[in-house]
Amino acid sequence: MITKFNHVAIVVPDLEAAAKKYADILGANVSDISNYKEHGVSVVFVKLENTKIELMHPYGDNSPIKKFLDKNNGGAIHHICIEVKDINETCARLKNHGITILGDEKPKKGAHNKPVIFLHPKDFYGTLIELEQE
Ligand code: CO
Repeated sequence: MITKFNHVAIVVPDLEAAAKKYADILGANVSDISNYKEHGVSVVFVKLENTKIELMHPYGDNSPIKKFLDKNNGGAIHHICIEVKDINETCARLKNHGITILGDEKPKKGAHNKPVIFLHPKDFYGTLIELEQE
């Protein structure tokens, strides 16, 4: 089932300022900004030795994280991402246990080009969980 921690995603009000803060104050290795039009997000990757932090900001008018930023205008943790061995098997198992998978309940290509699903926060202690195929 779940294997490795992949990333934590934090929505920020100003991506450039956030990247600069992580780099200048925390000495982090940060990527350039990547825009994912199809996902409606702009992302900066903070690369750590054992994992990464994704700083996200809405991209375009229909961004799925726009409302989240409106509600949390100073920024907030949005989701955590954990890897799984077999996403289809995981989906079936989750459905058997009555867990709500967001969207159309089928794995979709995520920002890393691997199939992902998102689990409703009500089922996992207020945390939005992204599961990504290894
Ligand atoms: Co993610």
